[in-house]
Amino acid sequence: MITIHNVSKTYIQNNKTFKALDHISLSINRGDIYGIIGRSGAGKSTLLRLINLLEVPTSGSVIVNGQDLTKLKGKQLRIARQSIGMIFQQFNLVLNKTILDNVLIALELAKYPKSERYNRAMEVLNFVGLKEYVYKYPSQLSGGQKQRVGIARALANKPKILLCDEPTSALDPNTTAEILKVLQSINKNLGVTIVIVSHEMDVIKSICNRVTILDNGKVYETVEIEPKGIREHSHNPDWFLAQLRGGRD
Ligand SMILES: Nc1ncnc2c1ncn2[C@@H]1O[C@H](COP(=O)(O)OP(=O)(O)OP(=O)(O)O)[C@@H](O)[C@H]1O
Ligand SMILES: [Mg+2]
Repeated sequence: MITIHNVSKTYIQNNKTFKALDHISLSINRGDIYGIIGRSGAGKSTLLRLINLLEVPTSGSVIVNGQDLTKLKGKQLRIARQSIGMIFQQFNLVLNKTILDNVLIALELAKYPKSERYNRAMEVLNFVGLKEYVYKYPSQLSGGQKQRVGIARALANKPKILLCDEPTSALDPNTTAEILKVLQSINKNLGVTIVIVSHEMDVIKSICNRVTILDNGKVYETVEIEPKGIREHSHNPDWFLAQLRGGRD
């Protein structure tokens, strides 16, 4: 479904060149929850942003659904991108717009049929459990709820692929588990292929079936894993206490 073939990305800053990605090749199958892990600066975000050509490779090709995105321009690229949604660590919501408007704006940008936008926005907001919050503003929501808005916005246009850049890194463990469940359900129930960048091993191990370890802009190794399942957490203070008394797990 996604093939990255021999891709390199060189940034030029202050007349110096820096190779952020160095001859990367990998392929992601339809239905995967594919993880990309590596230390800070390894090139994870750059690699993820190549998949929808937010980042243009210096060389190599990015093939999504049989199309080489590096060969597309203008309208063709815009249409190809419509099958790819993205969510971010800091949610990137429009702060002076309501939750509903945040999703409606995305639908408008995607040129979704006007008469169907409201129903579609309510449908995705309901799917992520935010039906009661549609007229609130981002500042009135918790981190987990904000990420649910990010997810609803990314899903609104019915993408086939969802790119996630550190989607839980701003969240506590309970909320992380909740968001991972939402992502898993999107993969299972909506058939969306998910690519998730994280530096948190727990996150990767809990839901991914394949993982690429990125190091210094190179693929260090790609491994198949058996997703371990999402560890249950609780908001109950007794649970916190039991965890603390139980020591490390
Ligand atoms: N626009 C840019 N111009 C110049 N250098 C950049 C640019 N974007 C990224 N880089 C450099 O490329 C390297 C890889 O960056 P990238 O953001 O992909 O890393 P990352 O693995 O996502 O790191 P983190 O875990 O901190 O988010 C870094 O050394 C970074 O400084
Ligand atoms: Mg990053």
